[in-house]
Amino acid sequence: MAGRGAATAVVYKTGGSALTMDKLIISGGKPLQGRVRISGAKNAALAVICASVMSVDKVKLENVPDISDVQAMIEIIRHLGAEATWLCESTLQINPPSRLKADPPCHLVKKLRASNLFLGPLLSRFGYTKVSLPGGCNIGVRPMDLHFKGLSSMGADIRIEGGFAVGRAPNRLQGARIYLDFPSVGATENLMMAACLAIGQTILENVAKEPEVVDLANFLNCLGAKVRGAGTDIIKIDGVPELGGCQRYTVIPDRIEAGTFMVAAAATRGSLVLENIIPPHVEPICAKLREAGVEVLENGDSIMVNANGNLQPLDIKTLPYPGFPTDMQSQMMAMLTMVNGTSVIVENIFENRFQVADEFKRMGARIKVEGRMAVVEGVSEMHGAEVRATDLRAGAALVIAGLMSRGQTGISNAHYIDRGYHRLEDKLRSLGVEVSRS
Ligand code: UD1
Repeated sequence: MAGRGAATAVVYKTGGSALTMDKLIISGGKPLQGRVRISGAKNAALAVICASVMSVDKVKLENVPDISDVQAMIEIIRHLGAEATWLCESTLQINPPSRLKADPPCHLVKKLRASNLFLGPLLSRFGYTKVSLPGGCNIGVRPMDLHFKGLSSMGADIRIEGGFAVGRAPNRLQGARIYLDFPSVGATENLMMAACLAIGQTILENVAKEPEVVDLANFLNCLGAKVRGAGTDIIKIDGVPELGGCQRYTVIPDRIEAGTFMVAAAATRGSLVLENIIPPHVEPICAKLREAGVEVLENGDSIMVNANGNLQPLDIKTLPYPGFPTDMQSQMMAMLTMVNGTSVIVENIFENRFQVADEFKRMGARIKVEGRMAVVEGVSEMHGAEVRATDLRAGAALVIAGLMSRGQTGISNAHYIDRGYHRLEDKLRSLGVEVSRS
């Protein structure tokens, strides 16, 4: 039942853009206080749903966030021939297709960058895939050369035909030794999935070490795959003829949702307890908050964030995990707009991630962007304004800026935020925020 409205009361047209209720209105100026439970990780859930089409049996996935990116992914796998049923709020049962019914639908694939993750699973299980070169957030050039090169060296024939990536592997893929020029998350995941059903051993070098890669490897191993080394620079996969038999798998908590709430608490000089967290996954964010003077205390699977008084400016560089995540850069920039002194942010992963700076400026921020570097001069006050989300994390950052500012902030293009934050408004309301949609 994708789109059953659990995420928000937003009305969507299937496959199109949000038609109504696409503006989030926030009354700011109050510290965030209370407890919030973090949902399942968007990026892990998307990869695990893709991988589930390689299984010959049903899989039951727990802690899946009901967000619009997941809804789009569910629509895609249904189109491919799978059955997907929500058993309860965050438990999704998938009955994978036994043969490929259709190509992934163009309009959804274009919308969802993570749909590129079907290349590996479909090629290795069905020997064929045709995916429209995907879209997703408007955060810069997002090439797929590493995916294509890796799959080609496993014996697939990949061609770009009329805007589509068409992959053919009439014979089973062959294990290979593949070095990634950059530790791309998507390429690591795609190649790891493809290798699970390939003949022989695949060695992937210079791979991404993100927690979502490890979660995907754990899910694949639950399906009977032989993946070793996920979370290090080298992953070794011994191919097996068939995957299946994983009755139940629980997706990890979302470290970026957690980070967003942590930064929101710090930015509003609030005090928040976050539950359902794996603390090492948020360590790069905790380290920066502590450096700024925020109290961050870990306790089992929860974290307390407490901020009052003046914070210190920061220097931040985004890097692959365990470096500071690009997906938290905009939210940190929001916080730093009101931290006295000069902060410097260097974005090394996606070049367009500074578009949000112009929106912050409408609210009174002082930011200078030069290529991949942004210099933020902290101001003592920001004011609510009409602003526009340009991507998912920019949207989250504008929510934080709205919470910090005096008066009301209207954030249009809120559908970007719905892509990645489960029940955001409910969670904010429970923390004392006045928030509505129009
Ligand atoms: C994933 C995450 C996204 C996160 C990003 C970096 C999902 C669904 N999305 O995106 O939220 O911001 O990791 O942590 O998991 N690159 C190439 N060639 C390729 C592939 C990538 O040059 O074939 C480059 C990209 O242009 C970019 C960098 O590698 O500069 C990182 O991209 P990648 O790690 O692949 O990000 P995604 O998997 O798309």
